[in-house]
Amino acid sequence: MSIKQKLFGGGSEALVGLDISSSSVKLLELGRKGSGFEVLAYAVEALPPNAVIDKQVAEPQIVGEAIQRAVAKAGTRTRAAAVAVAGPAVITKVVQMSSFLKDDDMEQQIRAEADQYIPYPIEEVAIDFQVVAPSASGGELVDVLLAACRKEQVESRCSAVQMGGLRPRVVDIESYALESACRLLTHQMPNGGREQTIAVIDMGASSTSMLMLHDLKTVYARDTAFGGKQLTEDIMRTFGMSYEEAGRAKRTSSLPDNYAADVLEPFLADMTQQIDRGLQFFFSAASQYTSVDQLILAGGCAQIPEVDRFIEGRLRIPTVVAKPFNTLSVTSRAKPNLLGRDESSLLLACGLALRAFDDEEG
Ligand SMILES: Nc1ncnc2c1ncn2[C@@H]1O[C@H](COP(=O)(O)OP(=O)(O)OP(=O)(O)O)[C@@H](O)[C@H]1O
Ligand SMILES: [Mg+2]
Repeated sequence: MSIKQKLFGGGSEALVGLDISSSSVKLLELGRKGSGFEVLAYAVEALPPNAVIDKQVAEPQIVGEAIQRAVAKAGTRTRAAAVAVAGPAVITKVVQMSSFLKDDDMEQQIRAEADQYIPYPIEEVAIDFQVVAPSASGGELVDVLLAACRKEQVESRCSAVQMGGLRPRVVDIESYALESACRLLTHQMPNGGREQTIAVIDMGASSTSMLMLHDLKTVYARDTAFGGKQLTEDIMRTFGMSYEEAGRAKRTSSLPDNYAADVLEPFLADMTQQIDRGLQFFFSAASQYTSVDQLILAGGCAQIPEVDRFIEGRLRIPTVVAKPFNTLSVTSRAKPNLLGRDESSLLLACGLALRAFDDEEG
């Protein structure tokens, strides 16, 4: 597989989006329907703790088996997949290059100069690039978006995908996939997102990704190690439960009466503080922004009942839970009832599934 095919490479071939994250593998396949999309297939398959650590696939075999179960459950025949890498091993940079260079020459020059941009030995990284636009610095220069990732991270993810019986065709970057998924959220945004500053907050099990969009384009992104795992551990400690019991109990609301006041509320307060801190980081990094128009909550933590009301009450910013499938039709194979329950945690999988339509966008 060529490097260029590895990062960014989309196409017109059918593919499934595969979000391999710390608590589960999430598979989603979208199809075209009129000018919009429909959900063709989906499945979520839980992962044991430590199979994926810090955005790295630590146990390709275990993850591969979960992917295999997810494929069977989803009932799809599509075998190509789009996955994403993230975390500190991923580096993106915009560099300026001569507009006269052909792709191959550009690649050679990037490789030759890579040590300026990338703090790892060149043999250890997978590199990809894309010409974004003529450079603002003028002349004959173009802005080139350079993406690099430690090869071992790409390889462990791809080998898990292969063990799962799929072919890794696109390796994306999580924050890009999340941005692209946001086009399925415009129906929830004021003014369809136009001229709005919106925070999309994907709060998963062990991490939170915050994406600040302005006019639907990312202007700031930040990842923190905070997520629903903390709530699970609080439940374990307070009620003497195992990890599995606590994980199940919080989803089925089958916990003692003091759960709400003693465990859930302090967690929600922490969660709110994390979001508030993220916003403050954004305001100080990009001083032209002084307010946000809306918060959109995604990830498993967005499924906590009334979490949007809680956060809106504290931060005084209109807050909604992401509903990417609201305007999409759903085939019966995609189990509409279950899909509705998992909707907010499938945002990243949506962004990856959308890579199947790259070629149509020109
Ligand atoms: N109804 C619910 N109430 C409370 N927590 C929930 C609910 N549903 C899911 N969660 C929690 O959401 C988390 C899983 O969310 P998600 O699937 O987005 O995580 P992930 O993508 O695997 O994690 P990460 O992105 O951090 O690697 C778990 O901690 C789970 O317990
Ligand atoms: Mg996640």
